[in-house]
Amino acid sequence: MLVAITREVSLAIGRCELTHLRRETIDVERVRAEQRAYEAALAVAGCRVERLEAGPDMPDSVFVEDTAIVFDELAILARPGAESRRTETPAVATALRRYRPLCTIEAPGTVDGGDVLVVGRRVFVGRSRRTNEAGIDQMQCALEPHGYQVEPVDVSHCLHLKSAVTAVGDGLLLTNPAWVPPGPFRSFDRIEVHPDEPWAANALWVGDGVIYPAAWPRTGERLETRGVKVCTVEASELAKAEGAVTCCSLILETKTD
Ligand code: GLY
Repeated sequence: MLVAITREVSLAIGRCELTHLRRETIDVERVRAEQRAYEAALAVAGCRVERLEAGPDMPDSVFVEDTAIVFDELAILARPGAESRRTETPAVATALRRYRPLCTIEAPGTVDGGDVLVVGRRVFVGRSRRTNEAGIDQMQCALEPHGYQVEPVDVSHCLHLKSAVTAVGDGLLLTNPAWVPPGPFRSFDRIEVHPDEPWAANALWVGDGVIYPAAWPRTGERLETRGVKVCTVEASELAKAEGAVTCCSLILETKTD
């Protein structure tokens, strides 16, 4: 059984963190409609969706991926690099404790879940504005006893590692080669984003395909040509808050219903 944890869109989303984008007016009702369609796609992919409530002052609450990283053996509660986001973690900890033993990134470490790409036993962690060396060291200590290999990757042109590279199948990655160095990913099959769609590398692989923004048809076509089943969703209002499809859920497998 797959569980997808999502989180309510805050009325304060207009005050979200922005790093690479100019602030635009965000229509909360449109974001909520996009979230409902995304949750419906998760259900079609086989997930039971658990939506957590947002607290009163959590502009980025919908981007729940940044608050934790879930493995089969444990979950790591992140310490988001943006201070405004640290109030998001306690409720996520409560939700995850039902499914996994939890370990926590402690100060001075910072890790955003969006910087963590897990491919089998290899865990690529973006060294970014949000994720620091101390956080990466703590990831290493937590994961190496379970047989995972943590590999830091420099991220400079985008917010998170997963803005530039995501998994779209078994050993198959979708990348924007202009935003991440090729070296760490050389041993995998790769699909590159269409050059006109630099923001298109974020896809959510779940069930037997990917949930993918409708905004990137040329890259979507490349995915389909390589045999990836693509379920498109409208995510353009969410994108104004500098979030994409992986950001909006935490997916985990569980034996309990
Ligand atoms: N607005 C997404 C983030 O910056 O964390």
